[in-house]
Amino acid sequence: MSQPQYSPGLEGVVAGETAISSLDGGLSYRGYSIEDLAHHASFEEVAHLLLHGDLPTAGELDDFRRRLGSQEVVPPPILETLRRIPVKVPMMDVMRTGASLLAHWDNEVADNAHDANVRKAERLLVQLPILMAARHRLVQGKEPVSADPRRSFAENLLWMLLRNQPTPQMTRAMDVSLILYAEHEFNASTFTARVIASTLSDLHSSICGAIGALKGPLHGGANERVLAILQSIGTTDKAEAWVMDALAKKQRIMGFGHRVYKDGDPRAAYVKPMCSELAAQTGNTPMEELADKVQEVVWREKKLPPNVDWPTARLYHYFGLAVELYTPLFVVARTAGWSAHVIEQLDQNRLIRPAANYTGPGKREWKAVGDRGA
Ligand SMILES: CC(C)(COP(=O)(O)OP(=O)(O)OC[C@H]1O[C@@H](n2cnc3c(N)ncnc32)[C@H](O)[C@@H]1OP(=O)(O)O)[C@@H](O)C(=O)NCCC(=O)NCCS
Repeated sequence: MSQPQYSPGLEGVVAGETAISSLDGGLSYRGYSIEDLAHHASFEEVAHLLLHGDLPTAGELDDFRRRLGSQEVVPPPILETLRRIPVKVPMMDVMRTGASLLAHWDNEVADNAHDANVRKAERLLVQLPILMAARHRLVQGKEPVSADPRRSFAENLLWMLLRNQPTPQMTRAMDVSLILYAEHEFNASTFTARVIASTLSDLHSSICGAIGALKGPLHGGANERVLAILQSIGTTDKAEAWVMDALAKKQRIMGFGHRVYKDGDPRAAYVKPMCSELAAQTGNTPMEELADKVQEVVWREKKLPPNVDWPTARLYHYFGLAVELYTPLFVVARTAGWSAHVIEQLDQNRLIRPAANYTGPGKREWKAVGDRGA
């Protein structure tokens, strides 16, 4: 029997089929380019596209918004539990716990029918940001606030986190970042979610696993490290030396490189002008110049282009959001994509169970414990 070829990190391996998104000839969600979606759509329309298979009609969008608005509550015992989690626990860990807690109060948790999973996904979509905002306020010694169903998803997020009326530009930029974070084919966290779903587990378990995978700095966790890098460099004149030193030490520079996009991440290209504009409006042009210098040196030395996390971290900083919210915001957006993948996996399920090349010792003789030497 011929051995299937092994590809470390499963690079280039086709591990399934999907109708949700494609990276072929640019990134698209169900056939729509992300540039078109980011330019014209709201996050709600994109979430509908991912979960329901198509962009909503005007009537469907109204219904969708109404449904989301009517579910904007987190059960009080969950908020009580959030109060008891030690303040030092990182927000991403709380998101993972939060997704698990939400399962305990969801009456359909064990129902894996397509429609039940869509309903659960819609609930998670609105409950996770409320939970995130509640925890964020609790660690600051403030009381959680309710969502405002009259506001759009993006505006509500900014409102719950900042408690200031966001400018239209901020709301639009948040919408765009959520749209661009919402879905990305068989990335590590989505694949995790699909593996869990393929065992006929449940949607909440898939989301918990996906959050755990997203947290890592090689994946979603990179956006928080990006800001740490920029803050530790401090000023543009120090950028060149910092990058050269990091590369000499073989350090990974967060926000650069991608498994699939070797010539550039289209999401990063889309966010950059928005980021520069917001930097100018919020007095952050020096950070933008510093970021440009880092980008120039990384490209010159390693030919590595920035990925979506490079500008998005700055965008969130310019909004005035705390760093520990950056990867959780990615969770909030990607819940739409993860859920769509879980639903798709279950619609055509086959257990995901790959094989491995064994590299351990050959056959060995059993020895009783007393015969194994000192
Ligand atoms: C995303 C990432 C894990 C993809 O990695 P990958 O496809 O496995 O690429 P590899 O690890 O094989 O890297 C190829 C080469 O580029 C280098 N490289 C890749 N990303 C790098 C980075 N961000 N900084 C420095 N060097 C990097 C590797 O060290 C390797 O160099 P070498 O051939 O001299 O050993 C990687 O680019 C990375 O670690 N980026 C930083 C984390 C990040 O921003 N993640 C968010 C992704 S959206």
